[in-house]
Amino acid sequence: MAQKTKKSKGKTQNFYDTIADVHNLMMKVNGYRDSVAKYLRSLELNLDSKSLVLDAGSGTGIVTLGFYSAGFQPKKTFALDLSFKSLKVSQEQFEKDKKTDETNICAVQGNVLRLPFADGTFDLVLTCGVLEYVSLDKGLKEFARVLKKDAKLVLIPVKPSMVGSVLEILYNFKTHPVEKVEKISQRYFEIVGNYKFPLGEPIGWSKMIFLLQKK
Ligand SMILES: C[S@@+](CC[C@H](N)C(=O)[O-])C[C@H]1O[C@@H](n2cnc3c(N)ncnc32)[C@H](O)[C@@H]1O
Repeated sequence: MAQKTKKSKGKTQNFYDTIADVHNLMMKVNGYRDSVAKYLRSLELNLDSKSLVLDAGSGTGIVTLGFYSAGFQPKKTFALDLSFKSLKVSQEQFEKDKKTDETNICAVQGNVLRLPFADGTFDLVLTCGVLEYVSLDKGLKEFARVLKKDAKLVLIPVKPSMVGSVLEILYNFKTHPVEKVEKISQRYFEIVGNYKFPLGEPIGWSKMIFLLQKK
């Protein structure tokens, strides 16, 4: 079983190493960054210059870029992903981008199920489109472990939908039913928000947001 998990992790990593440039281009043209920024700006996240933030399954960096577009200036943001190539592309984006302080972003190659951080490290975890590759319970439990008490998790899952089904085939993942996300989230978090992106924004065709607060 452990070997099977290791094999599928390697497959996912190779897949994203191969498609990182194309994925990045798609993310750039579809307006995800602005949609994420608009949503994050609407929240009271109580972050300051001492805060630590994690983008878990950061890919080519679109959520981190959205976070910086929203104007936040934490002490440090960790962008963590399995795919080395995606991390490399994300670093290039951070360096080029005027709104993003790349000197405060640390790219880390790692697995969301075994985060290389101590318990209660983070003031905020952002995650988009990665729990679809792993056990929802294990992923949420691990995010809760590294968050401080009462800190927030901005969970942006792929919603079960027609577009979601196409993405399942293209990206080789499995969406989690909304009721399951709600049920399992409540083992570790209080659900404090449930946001639907406007359908006029492409991100709204495939994603939704749960705002969770660590119990
Ligand atoms: C659909 S992409 C989303 C990337 C980014 N969050 C975004 O919204 O563009 C999924 C990402 O999750 C990463 N991933 C998949 N399984 C992972 C795991 N177990 N640990 C860390 N990253 C993982 C992949 O390498 C890929 O970059």
